[in-house]
Amino acid sequence: MYSLVALLLAIIHFGTPLAYYAYITKRYSSRSWNVRIEVNYQPNVTIIIPTYNEAKTIWKKLNNIYEQDYPKDKIELIVIDSGSTDGTPLLIRKWAEGHKDLTLKLIQEPIRMGKAQALNKALKYTTGEIVIITDADSIWLSKDTVSRVVRTFSNPMIGATSCIKEPIMTNRGVELSYRRYYNLLRVAESKIWSTPIFHGELAAFRRDVLEKLGGFPTDIGADDSHMAHMITMSGYRAIVLDYVKAGELVPKGLSSYMKWRIRRAQHLIQHFIRAIRDVKHAPNGYKTVLLIESYLHLINPWMLPLVLLLLVLGTLTSETSAITLMLIGTLPLAYRPYRTWILSQAILIVAMIKNIWSKELVWEKQIK
Ligand code: GDD
Ligand code: MN
Repeated sequence: MYSLVALLLAIIHFGTPLAYYAYITKRYSSRSWNVRIEVNYQPNVTIIIPTYNEAKTIWKKLNNIYEQDYPKDKIELIVIDSGSTDGTPLLIRKWAEGHKDLTLKLIQEPIRMGKAQALNKALKYTTGEIVIITDADSIWLSKDTVSRVVRTFSNPMIGATSCIKEPIMTNRGVELSYRRYYNLLRVAESKIWSTPIFHGELAAFRRDVLEKLGGFPTDIGADDSHMAHMITMSGYRAIVLDYVKAGELVPKGLSSYMKWRIRRAQHLIQHFIRAIRDVKHAPNGYKTVLLIESYLHLINPWMLPLVLLLLVLGTLTSETSAITLMLIGTLPLAYRPYRTWILSQAILIVAMIKNIWSKELVWEKQIK
């Protein structure tokens, strides 16, 4: 009996994401975007970089932005620093000295209150029509990134856009296989209507919409994803573009890698717990995506410990099928995608539990 229920739950646990993935990638991945774009659209853009102790990355980041092919007189760069203690602001000033043809505003907050708070402060100084937010430890992989991103906003339906991600300098195969799967999902969801998951390496928004919605939520760690959701709920589309790529640094040590994954998962969970309340009023297409993604992040992971518990009970009551099932469940651990999946489920569970006492809205900087 225990084994039978366990088997059923296992089928739901593995079957739901597999079916979702197979269905939407097959149906939507190869679809064209169907978004009409004006190639000559070139509004003023504000690029915001939030920084907290980014002395190691900021110089390269500023150069990466400087190399963009978008007209410099249409770019306003704002760096908002929150009490860095490693000399980040000094480096920024020095960089600005040598690159006077690019407008750079440095805003310094004496006290660190988190990324979202900082972004909201930076918004007050923002003049661009389109706002692109980007993490200091990320790199845009082509010179026409800004041009491509901005162009999509010539379509009045588009309220927000983000990039796909490529881990850089990582020996973590886990991170690579997990990324491939998630990128494909984000793009397919975007082609349906909107995706509920955005990336801090590049998250672009219409400034007037951001302002209308009151800026970034400061009580949800995944500020970018939740903003994208709010924008979708207000009638626009929020899409991840497969032709816009950003590289991100992955923490090197195993323990910092795990902390990093858990904190990000905590933030996504906070986002889905809030977002799912809107499902009734969500636009068609997005409704299903939101429902399934919320289920996958909040409920599905719990099936695994439940299955394990049932199988242990089954073994204790000498159900031979329980032992067989246990073996079937553990043997594929030799296979990387399976291992990657189990790890991400464990991370979600730990993150949900950790959210009970700490939301990690101001987080520890991981060494990358
Ligand atoms: N101004 C300011 N104030 N910037 C901050 C603060 C803060 O309190 N905390 C972090 N930042 C900056 C970092 O310097 C970096 O540029 C960016 O915000 C992202 O922080 P990281 O420490 O690099 O974290 P991450 O790469 O794991 O963050 C990712 O997940 C977050 C949600 O968990 C990114 O995608 C973030 O954009 C996202 O918010
Ligand atoms: Mn980062």
